[in-house]
Amino acid sequence: MADHLLIRAAFRQPVERTPVWMMRQAGRFLPEYRAVREKADFLTMCKTPELAAEVSLQPLEAVDVDAVIFFSDILTMLEPMGLELTFGEGEGPRFPDPIRTSADIDRLSVVDPADGLAFVGDALHLCRERIAGRVPLLGFTGAPYTLATYAVEGCTGKNFNHIKRWYYREPETLRRLLEKIADQVTVYLNYQIENGAQAVQLFDTWAGALSPEDYREIAAPYTRQVIDGLHRDGVPVILYINGGGHHLDTMATLGADVLSLDWRTDMAEAKRKYGATHCLQGNLDPCALYGTEARIRQEVQRVLDAAGKVGHIFNLGHGMLPDIPVENARCFVRAVKELGVHG
Ligand code: CP3
Repeated sequence: MADHLLIRAAFRQPVERTPVWMMRQAGRFLPEYRAVREKADFLTMCKTPELAAEVSLQPLEAVDVDAVIFFSDILTMLEPMGLELTFGEGEGPRFPDPIRTSADIDRLSVVDPADGLAFVGDALHLCRERIAGRVPLLGFTGAPYTLATYAVEGCTGKNFNHIKRWYYREPETLRRLLEKIADQVTVYLNYQIENGAQAVQLFDTWAGALSPEDYREIAAPYTRQVIDGLHRDGVPVILYINGGGHHLDTMATLGADVLSLDWRTDMAEAKRKYGATHCLQGNLDPCALYGTEARIRQEVQRVLDAAGKVGHIFNLGHGMLPDIPVENARCFVRAVKELGVHG
């Protein structure tokens, strides 16, 4: 297992070639994903290990990426805590009964994932079996702050009015919510590691909307709490924030092995600042995959030149877009595999 390119790169060990995968690679840009999705709604797919394993493996077969990320969503772990979740067609995730008061926090409980989230363990086992050692299997969750934005806003936030109002008026009760979510995230990630995840990524997608000061106060301590609580012998931890370039100094203090950059961040500068202590992941603009083959190769080369040969995992700067042609995704992966060879 320690031989996988991605795992070695994550620990800044020498690699023959830069590894590559794509956030949201198991998704709608693949016709074979849409075929499964026609027969089952999104949450049913997440909760049916056979379907989850099937779509997890699709990008490996279709575009030959260097890692499989198991199919699920960052939000599914909030359900067994006591938060009903719905995904209406075309309207994104909704929590009809959001957390807005101290009493609401009391009704949430930290559960054993082997009870409430056993479908995840089963899906991970199926994935490992079918990958059969070709590439590593990645686990993931949301980081506590991003999960809290969903629990409090009840949907994808725009200005994050509810959670920020709470933070500026009554930070101590909000901290109680973050601690509870961090406890659940920790046991959930350890459960994923016990059941076969070989690296784990924390998505703190919406922490990018915080000032550096507020990130240090209300998000970073809970991410650190999670990372400190992981049983991660040989399992690298990847930390991603969308629009998080202004948090990198703090992110670098939280114990993660890999800092995942979005496309707004200058890779060469990040490499200079954090390359001696961290592997960097990223960071092509997902829209670059709309480009011609020549342009995609040019963009890949640009990122490779900035990132260097050691301690880089190639990825997009955010999730794969649903209308990217499969052939362009193949062209992207092929470009990294050809241009990212280190003699
Ligand atoms: O990366 C992968 O391929 C693994 C699966 C995965 C999904 N979501 C599947 C999914 C992962 C790692 C996620 C993470 C996720 N989910 C994040 C963090 C990463 C990011 O994008 O910033 C967030 C914020 C969510 C919450 C979420 N899930 C939203 C806002 C939506 C609706 C928006 C949309 O893209 O449709 C989802 C749905 C979702 N999660 C889909 C997939 C494939 C689309 C579901 C469908 O088929 O209709």
